[in-house]
Amino acid sequence: MKKLLSALVVTVFTSPVHPVFAEDVEALHWWTSGGEAAAIAVLKDDVKKKGYGWKDVPVAGGGGDAALTALKARVTAGNPPTASQLSVMGVRAWAEEGLLGDLTPLAEAEGWSKVLLKPVLAGISYDGKVVAVPFNLHRSNWMWMNAAVFAKYDLAPPKTWDEFYAVGDKLKAAGIIPLALGGEPWQETILFEDAVLSAGGADLYHKALLDLDPAALTSDEMVKAFDTLRKVIQYVDPNYPGRAWNLGTAMVLKGEAGMQLMGDWAKGEIVAAKLVPGKDILCTPAPGNAGTYTFHFDAFGMFPTSGAKAEAQKALATSIMDPSFQETFNLAKGSIPARTDVKPDKFDVCAQQAMKDIKQAEADDALVGSVQGGAAQPPAVQGAIQDVVARFFSSDQSSKDAAKALADAIADAK
Ligand code: BGC
Repeated sequence: MKKLLSALVVTVFTSPVHPVFAEDVEALHWWTSGGEAAAIAVLKDDVKKKGYGWKDVPVAGGGGDAALTALKARVTAGNPPTASQLSVMGVRAWAEEGLLGDLTPLAEAEGWSKVLLKPVLAGISYDGKVVAVPFNLHRSNWMWMNAAVFAKYDLAPPKTWDEFYAVGDKLKAAGIIPLALGGEPWQETILFEDAVLSAGGADLYHKALLDLDPAALTSDEMVKAFDTLRKVIQYVDPNYPGRAWNLGTAMVLKGEAGMQLMGDWAKGEIVAAKLVPGKDILCTPAPGNAGTYTFHFDAFGMFPTSGAKAEAQKALATSIMDPSFQETFNLAKGSIPARTDVKPDKFDVCAQQAMKDIKQAEADDALVGSVQGGAAQPPAVQGAIQDVVARFFSSDQSSKDAAKALADAIADAK
């Protein structure tokens, strides 16, 4: 007994001292890849510095489908986290249910409306109230290329799909996988968005994917977009089904694959691997996508609470909106800050291009919400589009039938 007691005493006095935090902040999110984890760690450090504890609830799965299922289960069980990562339409869906806290007084006190682009402010607002805090702006219609591979085979970044096929043929001949794709519906939907923009520009995207106009959904241009997908798939390796997006990025970083069509969270992986975006890994808008910009942003929705917990939530929101946090977080995440007053100086050339392109696209009415990123359609319609695209990829359906299936699925989901 004496022995046991002294062992206990030793354990107690030698175990590391844990600081006592005023309150824990519990954050649910799907940021689990190398770059994503580095980005969320910035927030965790900030919150801890303010004297709050950090309870991390990461739910793996690119695009966030698994995280949203986990969130629903927590909320249904009456045990919501302090905050959760949400897409733009996610914010709207949770706000419609009356489940998000009101951040308006804080937003007004901190002047959020003066520093956010219109679509961001609209996306975090519901019924005249601010109900979420934005971290960033992501662009989905990027293409990433291994610079050494391109230099070795004397290739130029393709600006059109025809140039893409020509580059792809040369890479194939050299034994390199042309396109690193993960066969998951959300990743395939990014390609679909690219194909729609290249087939009919922002005009087709607006009519078909934002307004859901049946004539645009079954138009010749939409058929052309599916034709593009049918051809692009020939440049993917047989192991693509189910591949996680960050494994696809890793293939490009290692030079096993030449290109990836992916949002700029891929840049988080480039930075985490200590490579230089724009130098080691080149960036260019997806073929035929120059001048357009598919955007979405990540936000934290906060679940209503009171007392010390509400104070902790406020501190979390203030941290996220802090200009220096937005700089550090987005340098790691690959996105650009949601705040428009963060200087571009520390950002790489791809991010600087994004900052310019987004302004131009907004002026040209070519800034469009990404379906994949949950910035275009409510979950039911988004799911219907993703299902049709995924079915097209995994079958030999004709482009015309796919366009018809798209219009039908959307009509059912609306
Ligand atoms: C999110 C990003 C995330 C990516 C991959 C996107 O929907 O907006 O923050 O990095 O999915 O998981």
